[in-house]
Amino acid sequence: MSYSKDTVSQVFNEFNDKRKRNEELRDSRLVAAYAKIPELKEIDRALSLTGLQILGASLQGKDGLEERINKLKEENKSLNDKRSALLLENGFSADYTDMKFECESCRDQGYINGKMCQCLKRALITKQLESSGVGELISSQGFENFSLDFYKGADREIMESLVEDLKEYVNEFPEKKANLLFVGGTGIGKTHLSTAIAKALIEKGQSVIYETATNIFADFENDRFRDRYNGEEPVSSKYMECDLLIIDDLGTEVITNFTVSCLYNLINTRLNKKLPIILSTNLGSAEIRKSYNDRITSRLFGDFEIKLFKGTDNRGK
Ligand SMILES: Nc1ncnc2c1ncn2[C@@H]1O[C@H](COP(=O)(O)OP(=O)(O)OP(=O)(O)O)[C@@H](O)[C@H]1O
Ligand SMILES: [Mg+2]
Ligand SMILES: [Zn+2]
Repeated sequence: MSYSKDTVSQVFNEFNDKRKRNEELRDSRLVAAYAKIPELKEIDRALSLTGLQILGASLQGKDGLEERINKLKEENKSLNDKRSALLLENGFSADYTDMKFECESCRDQGYINGKMCQCLKRALITKQLESSGVGELISSQGFENFSLDFYKGADREIMESLVEDLKEYVNEFPEKKANLLFVGGTGIGKTHLSTAIAKALIEKGQSVIYETATNIFADFENDRFRDRYNGEEPVSSKYMECDLLIIDDLGTEVITNFTVSCLYNLINTRLNKKLPIILSTNLGSAEIRKSYNDRITSRLFGDFEIKLFKGTDNRGK
């Protein structure tokens, strides 16, 4: 698991809130039950003393300890039985004043014997998906709804083996983590497969950010003009830190000195930290060389595996 700090802290806060809410709800049910059944309060007072009584019994020495404890247990049970009966008689369910949990397995603690509960894992994944930038695309653009039928002849074979490669990429991540450069014309599945990878890796517990080049550069630009001393982390730092960054539509941004230096910095920083990038572009290699400087292109062609997408525009098919 390597979710972003934001994701983890948001989910932990939600779990705290949930536990507080559980208690508040239980307390208000208790108030309602006490109001209707005053005797219940007496029983609860008696029950709350059980722990002390057991301690007291054990302090009286080993002789007859078991009997003393068994007697206490019996008393305890009959109090509980009486309690349930009273609740039922008064139109409540027997467990009306118990805590109610969304997840009974971990009682909304998020952990069972120090191990993360499924409910916490799910919550982290959901939160990470929400903040991944993939948004709406996540439901419609997975591996499961990527069709090879759109590709004809040799294109189909190429795309079939490409999809296999990308599934393997997901399976081997993060032990193996290559940088990929998706190249090809419009509407042939670059964004679709990028989203599929993001989704599959987030499900595996990796932090993945998907964003268009234009939006990424806009975030860097905004950070430049934000107050550096307000203590907040720059929005763009997530692009430097996530396990996988997917930059879509490189080349559609307005290319300026600023965006070029941003891109260089982003690629270089992530390469140094061994944090992979998947980049998509419509540009051919000549256009890439023309648009970006040597320091960028030498990295793109040296450190990225080029994945050529084939086919004709699938939009609307
Ligand atoms: N093989 C496919 N199976 C199912 N849907 C596909 C396939 N290829 C493309 N699509 C759908 O067609 C639309 C366009 O595909 P996508 O966005 O992946 O294209 P792209 O290669 O990223 O194009 P662009 O370069 O214009 O961004 C999307 O809605 C996508 O889900
Ligand atoms: Mg696209
Ligand atoms: Zn749980």
